[in-house]
Amino acid sequence: MSRWLVVGCDGMLGQDLVAALGEKPGAHEVTAVDRDVLDIRDSDACLAAVADHDLVVNVAAWTAVDDAESHESAAFAVNAVGAANLARACSAAGARMVQVSTDYVFAGDATSPYAEDAPLAPRSAYGRTKAAGEWAVQALCPQSWIVRTAWLYGAHGPNFVKTMARLAAERDTVSVVDDQRGQPTWTVDLAAAIVRLVEAEAPFGTYHGTSAGETTWFGFAQAIFAELGLDPARVLPTTTDAFPRPAPRPAYSVLGHEAWRGAALDLLPSWRESLTRAIPLVAPTS
Ligand SMILES: NC(=O)c1ccc[n+]([C@@H]2O[C@H](COP(=O)([O-])OP(=O)(O)OC[C@H]3O[C@@H](n4cnc5c(N)ncnc54)[C@H](OP(=O)(O)O)[C@@H]3O)[C@@H](O)[C@H]2O)c1
Repeated sequence: MSRWLVVGCDGMLGQDLVAALGEKPGAHEVTAVDRDVLDIRDSDACLAAVADHDLVVNVAAWTAVDDAESHESAAFAVNAVGAANLARACSAAGARMVQVSTDYVFAGDATSPYAEDAPLAPRSAYGRTKAAGEWAVQALCPQSWIVRTAWLYGAHGPNFVKTMARLAAERDTVSVVDDQRGQPTWTVDLAAAIVRLVEAEAPFGTYHGTSAGETTWFGFAQAIFAELGLDPARVLPTTTDAFPRPAPRPAYSVLGHEAWRGAALDLLPSWRESLTRAIPLVAPTS
């Protein structure tokens, strides 16, 4: 039985990952910790926590994308130094590591899906800190998988699906940007994919943990309204310029999935099919 350490277990993805592992009783021995037990900025604490584990999944992160613009060193301490601390501890313990990363490591100005080995060119502070985390993990723990994800939503954290459900109850119409493309990804699908990746002993390297298919935030919002039994015409298209934010948003964040195919692993489902399954759990109507 392999001994897993899930770091960041109280976050949106962390909770669904622990639940996915819980559905396989006896398959793995799972220790789940969050910041109150293990602050990943503390290298000695990481060494102690990782000892006696075979695998560490790091889903802890500074995820406040806009705040990172004005607090880059604080975000770097978690997303880069924290990831490095865990990677060093994994090497010392002979453990493997899964590091969850983001589409924000890319420039976001492509016109076809980003390959796993496309050059990193982050445009935001958050993206820079996550790119540094990837490099640190690759350098310090070669027995590692980088899993980049994007547009995550789930039952256990604030996210776009919940925001749309709330705004639908408050307003007649909702304006949503139609000039950013990506892949809405349910945390339950990603958690299952991470477990598959490790259990299959897939080749170490970089994988894109996003749904199949693509859409814009506007298209995603219309689908959410439809799933909630509401009129999708209440969602109006707008542009990024209408919603200025501290951190630049990628116009094109579609990630390719060749590495999954190369490892003969099942891809994540299509975003649209997953939304139908997710809505009753993420935004229940009663
Ligand atoms: N959400 C998205 O749309 C998205 C998109 C692309 C990539 N990702 C990546 O996916 C992963 C999971 O994201 P998520 O949405 O599940 O994030 P989340 O809900 O914000 O959870 C992150 C967790 O990390 C913990 N944490 C923060 N600083 C820590 C520290 N110094 N030591 C230990 N734990 C710490 C947080 O605890 P506190 O609550 O106490 O701070 C929280 O429980 C992250 O790597 C993120 O970068 C997310």
